[in-house]
Amino acid sequence: MHILIRGGRVIDPAQGLDRHLDVWIADGKIAALDKNLPLPPAETLRVIDARGCVVAPGFIDMHTHLREPGFEHKETIATGLAAAAAGGFTAVAAMANTQPVNDTAAVTEYMLQRAAAVGGTRLYPIGAVSQGLRGKELAEIGSMHRAGIVALSDDGMPVMNSRLLRRAMEYGAMLGLPVISHCEDQTLAAGGVMHEGVVSTELGLPGIPAAAESIMVYRDVQLAALTGAHVHIAHLSTAEAVDLVRRAKDKGLPVTAEACPHHFTLTDEAVRGYDTNTKVNPPLRPAADVEAVKAGLQDGTIEVIASDHAPHHAAEKEQDYLTAPFGMIGLETTVSLALQLYHEGLLSLPQLVTKFTVAPARILGLPHGTLRVGSTADVTILDPEYELVVEAATLRSRSKNSPFLGWRLRGAAVMTIVGGHIVFERL
Ligand code: DOR
Repeated sequence: MHILIRGGRVIDPAQGLDRHLDVWIADGKIAALDKNLPLPPAETLRVIDARGCVVAPGFIDMHTHLREPGFEHKETIATGLAAAAAGGFTAVAAMANTQPVNDTAAVTEYMLQRAAAVGGTRLYPIGAVSQGLRGKELAEIGSMHRAGIVALSDDGMPVMNSRLLRRAMEYGAMLGLPVISHCEDQTLAAGGVMHEGVVSTELGLPGIPAAAESIMVYRDVQLAALTGAHVHIAHLSTAEAVDLVRRAKDKGLPVTAEACPHHFTLTDEAVRGYDTNTKVNPPLRPAADVEAVKAGLQDGTIEVIASDHAPHHAAEKEQDYLTAPFGMIGLETTVSLALQLYHEGLLSLPQLVTKFTVAPARILGLPHGTLRVGSTADVTILDPEYELVVEAATLRSRSKNSPFLGWRLRGAAVMTIVGGHIVFERL
């Protein structure tokens, strides 16, 4: 299969490239990038008119929950990867809080085999820090590494035991695996269902204070300094935590961070209707925190945008606000919500593309994130003006727990190409 993508604005931050060029894909690789490429003499040729669109390296979502094995009523690897492709992602990193937990090579291999059988968007498993996410003994880090994990994380559960996290970071440093930290002091957050503040008080809901996050970010920065290991802070949501990461970077510590669209799009005001789709961990925060997250994205403190796609079945989310599980889906809205930051003038398109490509590829050590000639042809095409209406009926994800249902968003991924194969298109 040969594909010629014509007339698009090619943005490849890894090469410092931002120009109108044609992209020729042959045999699964980027074969040429040039102006006015002639039609290659091929029998199976698809010519794509990308005028008005951005042609970028394949987008990577480094924080996804795919739920298989164990919670297939919420999502499967097949439905999750289909949702990822529809959201513009050519690769996703899948968190370990499955059942069984991805704390052994057997589960890692299972996930990789399922993904290979499904095809399409690539799956990179993340291994647990601790056995069963219980925070007591280390998971089988070495054998999971040999099986193909790309990072370590107990995401969904904070690792409260600093000594255990230190050991995981030492193994991580030895093996070249970042440790992705879900920063939440459980003793402070326990029982909370939303941000602790004026809105939680008015609603009579137990709160999670902002300090529950920043206390742990501070600890993790200290552990990065102690071990020299790379710690990546997941889903940053508070002003104080953004500031701690900024200061850690100023000191040259190996700390990176991500933010999720709900934390730069919604505030805790969204909880007022008691829509359980707004229940997420870390919780939606007040406007000052949202502004700080945006500032962190703008100045590069936060180098990655990730979905934290957390599917839950309708029956689980139909419970009352105290009982419903934390989490919202995100694979199919993340790129469009990020594009709102471009439309607001907060991020340039190259900045935005960086956060979905070269940055997550570098953090996870993936052989992706560029359109360099000869590299694997993973490509995402964006139409910044596409009108995306978020509707349950058209979402590929098995779960529909999104607070953005009914929203009209300006801009979307319109084509997703993995290894030279078109796996999703709206064009
Ligand atoms: O809201 C969340 N849901 N936050 C997490 O950290 C875990 C996730 C899940 O797995 O449902």
